[in-house]
Amino acid sequence: MSEVLSHNQLTAIANEFGTPVYIYHAEKIAEQYNKLATAFKKTDTRFFYACKALSNINVLKLVQSLGASLDCVSINEVKLGFMAGFKKENILFTPNCVDFTEIIEAKELGVIINIDNIPTLEQFGNKFGSSYPVCVRLNPHIMAGGNLKISTGHIDSKFGISIHQMRHIERVVKSTGIIVNGIHMHTGSEIKDVNIFLQGLDIMFLATSHFPNLEFIDLGGGFKVPYKEDEIEIDINLLANKVAEAFKKFEKESGKKLQIWFEPGKFLVSEAGYLVVKTNVIKQTPATVFACVNSGFNHLIRPMFYDAYHRIENISNKKDIQRIYTVVGNICETDTFALDRKLTEIKEGDLLVFYNAGAYGFEMSSNFNSRLKPAEVLVKNGKPILIRKRDVFEDLLRNQVEA
Ligand code: LLP
Repeated sequence: MSEVLSHNQLTAIANEFGTPVYIYHAEKIAEQYNKLATAFKKTDTRFFYACKALSNINVLKLVQSLGASLDCVSINEVKLGFMAGFKKENILFTPNCVDFTEIIEAKELGVIINIDNIPTLEQFGNKFGSSYPVCVRLNPHIMAGGNLKISTGHIDSKFGISIHQMRHIERVVKSTGIIVNGIHMHTGSEIKDVNIFLQGLDIMFLATSHFPNLEFIDLGGGFKVPYKEDEIEIDINLLANKVAEAFKKFEKESGKKLQIWFEPGKFLVSEAGYLVVKTNVIKQTPATVFACVNSGFNHLIRPMFYDAYHRIENISNKKDIQRIYTVVGNICETDTFALDRKLTEIKEGDLLVFYNAGAYGFEMSSNFNSRLKPAEVLVKNGKPILIRKRDVFEDLLRNQVEA
């Protein structure tokens, strides 16, 4: 049985903490983590939670307590990781296009550094030589992921060092003495086909011959979770078995034993999250019926930004009479959450829930239109705990200087 929060639980939390409210379910995060850990238990595998998906300190602490390591993309995520109790050897820093000073800061903090461009590799090697081994992020030139905006491993992507630049990497390694102990790829988000990982893995295996000091291969994140009713999760058990097989063969042929790393974001927290909003107005136009809610793309940008689909339910009316609605926010700009969606009849004041709101939900929110960011609540052992206060008006002025 999959861990879910019931309409009654969601309603009670919305009544207690107000709306809009992000609600996260600790047991669901644990369920997802355990699924990965169990599937990969036959191989030497580590999971680094990609905390850009949801970085509330309480979620980081929870993920840490489950046994995960942490994948960070900014020095601030690294610092949050330390605050949450992650040890430096369990924090991976995978920045992109950052200033070199940020890399130096990460080095001083002692975390694992994943370098994604040759100039930085060169500078780092010049400065530290063989004293601080690094991982390099390779771009395998694979098109993968749910949509182009979240595809990162193709030839036009800014991410990683092209696999065709291997010779250049070798030159830098040779002339600076830098030790490369890991190679990394991340081809995209929402990958449902196990073969994408295997294809990438083959490319990584080929690359290993250029790196004599390798200890691990990092295959990134991007595991697909279901968003629509008829979608299914990537087959983690199949992936684990295929990856195990591939590594076994590689070990036999190369005589090298490498650790396998992954960086799941959505897989751990997407389904654990709910955004509950209130319907402000039902507006009938010549063309449609709008259900206008007290939220917008300032709170959940994924539908407008990626055309992402989020399942919605009217939790105030469970009766089976469905009508067709366009669900919109209250932002002064086109702000559509869902087009022509069948929902049980909505009345003003009804609570709607957006599913799959855990990953890249609150995390990508803003104060656009001078609106306040929602509260966040974590449900653990059936008990809701406030883990972020709702913004107040003064938050809008914080850091503004009245000249
Ligand atoms: N590792 C690296 C290097 C990444 O860039 C990402 C995501 C992940 C791991 C985790 O990917 P995940 O398992 O969450 O798919 N905001 C977009 C997703 C952007 C993903 C960026 N990188 C969305 O809401 O769909």
